[in-house]
Amino acid sequence: MMTRKIPFFEYPRLWTDSKQEYISIFDHVASSGGFILQKDLADFETELAKYTGVNYSVGVGNATDAMEIFLEAIGLNKGDEIIISSHTMLATASAIKFAGGVPVPVDIGEDNLICTDSIENSITSNTIGIMPTQLNGRVCDMDKIIKIAQKNNLFIVEDAAQALGAKFKGKHAGTFGLASCISFFPAKVLGCFGDAGGVLVNDKNLYHKIFQLHDHGRDIDGEVKRWGRNSRLDNLQAAILRHKLKNYDKVIERRREVAQMYQDRLNDLSELQLPPPPSTTSNHFDVYQNYEITADKRDDLKDYLNEKNIGTLIQWGGKGVHHFRQLGFTQKLPKTDKFFERCIMLPMNMFISNEDVDYICETVKSFYIK
Ligand SMILES: Cc1ncc(COP(=O)(O)O)c(C=O)c1O
Repeated sequence: MMTRKIPFFEYPRLWTDSKQEYISIFDHVASSGGFILQKDLADFETELAKYTGVNYSVGVGNATDAMEIFLEAIGLNKGDEIIISSHTMLATASAIKFAGGVPVPVDIGEDNLICTDSIENSITSNTIGIMPTQLNGRVCDMDKIIKIAQKNNLFIVEDAAQALGAKFKGKHAGTFGLASCISFFPAKVLGCFGDAGGVLVNDKNLYHKIFQLHDHGRDIDGEVKRWGRNSRLDNLQAAILRHKLKNYDKVIERRREVAQMYQDRLNDLSELQLPPPPSTTSNHFDVYQNYEITADKRDDLKDYLNEKNIGTLIQWGGKGVHHFRQLGFTQKLPKTDKFFERCIMLPMNMFISNEDVDYICETVKSFYIK
């Protein structure tokens, strides 16, 4: 087997692979002096809303701000509880905390996404909403979550930071609840050259509140209507995102191709559990923001792959939300605990070639089959 070097992610290639195109976009926008709240941003917001099928989108500083702004917009009260998966970035919880609420992490289900039974068991008289994370580019079974929300009079807000373009029953991630957040962090499937995020929302009044909250209380007509903050998406970044959104479906197709290759080559290893393969007939259309597996002897596998120059990553530094005991979490979540003892992410990005995937899979196999 020929040796290769396959980093988990190569940030410089985000720039170098299409440098001339990006330079000309930057030059065009910067030469026009359009830096803040300009046309590229407005166009991107319109195009993003159209792409996902919602009425409005608002570009904000990052996805964490997006969630916090939404929670302020709906008038969350101190002590209100919102149920989240423990297998999410701490950001999901911190947005709730900073908006004055209480994040309640629950266990994961068989699909490693939020467990619907655990949601039901965690509802109290203080619960006001459910914030499912559409993790690794896969949408939760939203039929079940919507049913629970309706039965208990709770709202849904999706953490769709990792899932732009993913669908459940043909409906886009981020379009199932009152609103949702998307992240454009550089490593996201749609990423820019810094921090950025978006809110997706259907309701006109809520859209206006969110708009005001993200720009010093000013509405689209420039009139101040309330107290607000500054969390705006830069026009330069929006111009890059607009450009990337044009080819987004091709990017998703390539990631699904890579996922299928992993599936074909690793599925027969009983030591691994793989994510569901891409399918055109199931309820789920996945975009594979990450290719997260669980593995026997996970730590040894990681070291072995590292020796063979293959980069891997354990998501969130190996901790679910409830593991942050110093932040006050006391929940006991055995399925999530077990998951974090076994999880690891294999390289999944636009830079790896078919030969890279072959090398990764052969190397994984050589670890288990001596
Ligand atoms: C599931 C999830 N939620 C929230 C965030 C936070 O996004 P941002 O860094 O844009 O605030 C991320 C970012 O990685 C994420 O993956």
